Amino acid sequence: MTEKKPHSIEYLGEARNFWWNDDYLELLAKRLALAEKSVLADVGCGYGMMGFLLSKFMKGNAAIHGFDLEKEHIAKARRLAVADHSEKKFSFEVADAYALPLEDNFSDITVCQTLLIHLKDPQRAIREMIRVTKPGGLIVAFEPNNMASVLYIDQFSGLDLSVEEMLEETEMTLRHEKGKMALGEGFNSLGDVVPELFLKSGLKEIAVWLSDKGLPVIPPYGDSAEMSARVAQMKTFMSEELGGYNYDENLKYHLAGGGSKERFDNYWKRHMVKTQQLAERLNNGSYTCAGGGIFYIVVGKK
Ligand SMILES: C[S@@+](CC[C@H](N)C(=O)[O-])C[C@H]1O[C@@H](n2cnc3c(N)ncnc32)[C@H](O)[C@@H]1O
Repeated sequence: MTEKKPHSIEYLGEARNFWWNDDYLELLAKRLALAEKSVLADVGCGYGMMGFLLSKFMKGNAAIHGFDLEKEHIAKARRLAVADHSEKKFSFEVADAYALPLEDNFSDITVCQTLLIHLKDPQRAIREMIRVTKPGGLIVAFEPNNMASVLYIDQFSGLDLSVEEMLEETEMTLRHEKGKMALGEGFNSLGDVVPELFLKSGLKEIAVWLSDKGLPVIPPYGDSAEMSARVAQMKTFMSEELGGYNYDENLKYHLAGGGSKERFDNYWKRHMVKTQQLAERLNNGSYTCAGGGIFYIVVGKK
């Protein structure tokens, strides 16, 4: 039996450390009044990225509590906490988002980043986040709409795709998304629905902002650590069939989303040719894209 990989492991690479613009985080910290907050809970924390980033703006001795189902992620978050020399108190525990090991009314602010998109029952997780948050405290969800990017022209720049090919890309993305949902693995574009889920959960003063981060790829790629990490991630994804480049995974979601194997196989052949072209352009330093995305920050008050 092959050992199951920890959830989302391929996505938690170095490129993720550059997901937020520093000056935007400062703005966010003001909007969330982080300087007044002493206790933060980060649900589905992975390596603890969001807790580490937000902690910098919190009270000097603030406590950050991260929770994730995967013990490997928690072990890495603990190692990173040892390397953090601030006065902040970090604790990381293996726990399910549906049953957090915290008393009621515990945190000043409870956050999650790209967690709800992976859950079968995001509403239940939101209710749990609310339970552990103090009355008047904030619940913040950082979640994307991944379907939006399928029509970004830059994703295909230089390939000169026809309307038919763009429509095919769109259909494939929709079937993938619907398939993932049908298999109970969440909904990659849940970001758009989070305000409604917040409302249904009784949260007040709901606000929605967008991350201002573009994820461009601009030659020469070695110019900054950020660009190098992003290009390295793209190359790894393509060469190791990760991040959407794996046939079996894609076929599984396509079929569950109501597609046929024949149609998928035809598409996949063309997709592989495009992937090859993309890899060549990355290797010869001619690939450029703006790297747009829709990444929501949804906030509600308990
Ligand atoms: C895409 S990762 C995001 C990690 C982290 N929030 C970040 O932004 O770096 C999703 C995380 O959710 C965790 N996860 C998935 N289902 C979970 C559940 N039911 N309870 C707790 N964590 C869960 C996964 O193990 C994974 O670490």
